[in-house]
Amino acid sequence: MSQVVIGIESTAHTAGVGIITSDGKILSNQRAVYTPEEGGIHPREAANHHSETLPGLFKAALEEAKLEPKDISLVSYARGPGLGPCLRTGATAARAFAYSHNIPLLGVNHCVAHLEIGILEGAKDPVLLYLSGGNTQVIAYAAGRFRVFGETLDIGIGNGLDKFAREAGMGFPGGPKLEKVAKGPELLDLPYSVKGMDMSFSGLMTAAKSKLDAGHSLESVAYSIQETAFAMSCEVSERALAHTGKRELVLGGGVACNSRLREMARIMAEERGIRCFVPKRALCVDNGVMIAWLGWQMMSANYAISEQDNVVDQKYRTDMVEVTWR
Ligand code: ATP
Ligand code: FE2
Repeated sequence: MSQVVIGIESTAHTAGVGIITSDGKILSNQRAVYTPEEGGIHPREAANHHSETLPGLFKAALEEAKLEPKDISLVSYARGPGLGPCLRTGATAARAFAYSHNIPLLGVNHCVAHLEIGILEGAKDPVLLYLSGGNTQVIAYAAGRFRVFGETLDIGIGNGLDKFAREAGMGFPGGPKLEKVAKGPELLDLPYSVKGMDMSFSGLMTAAKSKLDAGHSLESVAYSIQETAFAMSCEVSERALAHTGKRELVLGGGVACNSRLREMARIMAEERGIRCFVPKRALCVDNGVMIAWLGWQMMSANYAISEQDNVVDQKYRTDMVEVTWR
């Protein structure tokens, strides 16, 4: 009989509770997103948002799944990386639920969860292009660990898009708003900064703002940002694919909701003759389902839960995870 796992996500903007069966059937994916009224994310306000919304999300998820706490075999939560107050709020909710119902508890790595959801989509051993607000990484499994092959040297790509959009007076979140207007026709020259398998986005966004101030249309500037930033991301992923010899690409993170990015990644994969897995948008963004699914992957390989799996770690790096389930 299949088992049921509940997952709690709370690393940054999103509070999420997801329920999935051990054979990969998603029973619920409840999310609530904290949106700052102005400026960037305030960790404590986001944490308050999560503590206000998580109880309701638990209730809604269990109701949608038509389950009771006693039906759950594992409580999995995002141990890190992320914002301290947000992580602690999610972990506290997870602990309270697990302990009050006597269910095992396991803290997992948020970035690895974005990769492992690709397994649910049918990938076996992919390279993950993970583009979100705070994170921009190319990750793959090699020699016993998930390795970060490339990453941003400054800001996350999504935070860059959000910052530009805010400065252009478009509000938050910027990524989807820029996508709507990114029609061109001009392809403007913006800094294309790839160093080996690393990237940087800060100079690109500053230069884009200067182009806007110099009178280029928002349609052309947004289009040029997308073309440049996504080409950089695809180039780096392709290099990681070539380096590792892997034949599968998975997209993850909120920016992977972008249709142009999806198209560029698909073209690159097609040209290399490899497969490209693009999870549904609800599974690309931060969500509880991926946390539950990774928890299950670990447990099904007889992962032994230790005290360490009951804490949070703001700087829990991808390559710190001891991989026992592959
Ligand atoms: P993380 O903790 O993983 O960094 P996050 O809080 O940034 O997560 P996500 O939901 O993964 O959350 O990603 C949010 C980001 O995705 C925002 O920066 C947003 O602008 C961007 N984004 C969302 N949709 C699109 C889109 N269609 N095109 C481009 N960017 C998008
Ligand atoms: Fe994320």
